[in-house]
Amino acid sequence: MNKPLKEKIVSKFIKIYKSQPLVIFSPGRINLIGEHTDYNDGYVFPAAIDKGIIAAVEKSKTNYCSVYAYDKKEKYQFNLDSIAPIPNGGWRNYILGVISEIQKKGIGLSPFNIVFGGDIPDGAGLSSSAALENSIVFGLNELFQLELSKKDMIFISQKAEHNYVGVKCGIMDQYASMFGKEDHFLLLDCRTIESKAYQIDLKGYELLLINTNVKHNLSDSAYNNRRSVCENVSTMLHKKALRDVTEKELLALKDKISDDDYQKASYIIQEINRTQKSAEAIKSDDILKLGQLIYQSHAGLQHQYKVSCDELDFLVDKAKESNAVIGSRMMGGGFGGCTINLIEKNQINNFTSEVTKSYKTKFDNECSIYQIKLSSGTHLVT
Ligand code: GLA
Repeated sequence: MNKPLKEKIVSKFIKIYKSQPLVIFSPGRINLIGEHTDYNDGYVFPAAIDKGIIAAVEKSKTNYCSVYAYDKKEKYQFNLDSIAPIPNGGWRNYILGVISEIQKKGIGLSPFNIVFGGDIPDGAGLSSSAALENSIVFGLNELFQLELSKKDMIFISQKAEHNYVGVKCGIMDQYASMFGKEDHFLLLDCRTIESKAYQIDLKGYELLLINTNVKHNLSDSAYNNRRSVCENVSTMLHKKALRDVTEKELLALKDKISDDDYQKASYIIQEINRTQKSAEAIKSDDILKLGQLIYQSHAGLQHQYKVSCDELDFLVDKAKESNAVIGSRMMGGGFGGCTINLIEKNQINNFTSEVTKSYKTKFDNECSIYQIKLSSGTHLVT
């Protein structure tokens, strides 16, 4: 966690509200493999990272709530008895959504104050939204002793996103952010919502993120649209989710659906399989195999599921050209954000300086490089 940022947020809180807050750190996440599989009841392989949201919360003596977004320098005040989504409300909707979902459970809240800020770059695909939702629900749970379990909390966060932000996301981001474990990835079964922690020995390799610094429009509607394609296909096959469908069973439907939908569904079935194979590769210490699966994941996201973009494809192509990188793919929902790369440790500088230059030449835009640490999930900061 970013200690200087924490200090700034706490002193801002004390300055505005003249009281000492509870402080929560809620991390963003990366995902090794298993993309768009979460809402198909499949497997994902995320980890929480050391970048995230820091939220300071305390009860208010007034009869309204007040939230200050530190990074944006924006303040918002509202009444707990008139919560509704705000059109183009940005960060406000994540907070209101969480409150609304808590209220829907019949839980009453009293007014509170918040200052929050973070160090996850906007649009990087590192789930600053899940980190924010989790920080709020976790903070309110502590503040008002709501006795919500961590699982209750992640479903509240997820529904906030469905109902107030309008993205019908799966559970991966909220789970990883809440349950993350230092130095570990979590192989999460999105049907049972149980995970197994893996400490991966990357040998001489390291994980490196490269941010395209683009976020293309329509990514939300494209996301929801992909989700409904998956649900339609599994319904046509009388299955609960694509997780329950084999490639052979899908083939029987080939003439009844568009080729586009067929490709999307087969991507999901294959990606669920790749995620399980990745766990096996890790268990048998086969990092090269893991890298190959990561490259295959990108090919599927690019050509079959069609959620990549030129900038992401360019970065993955550059990775393929380099002997130093053994696996690279777009990460998260797509249409921008980061690639995740498995790269030889002592080649990082060479590779990144070459990629940064060629990216700039090609897109007249900077890409950013991040090295990350795997962190523990949402927690109180003392
Ligand atoms: C977004 C969603 C997740 C997941 C990923 C794609 O991050 O919030 O639920 O579907 O996209 O894997």
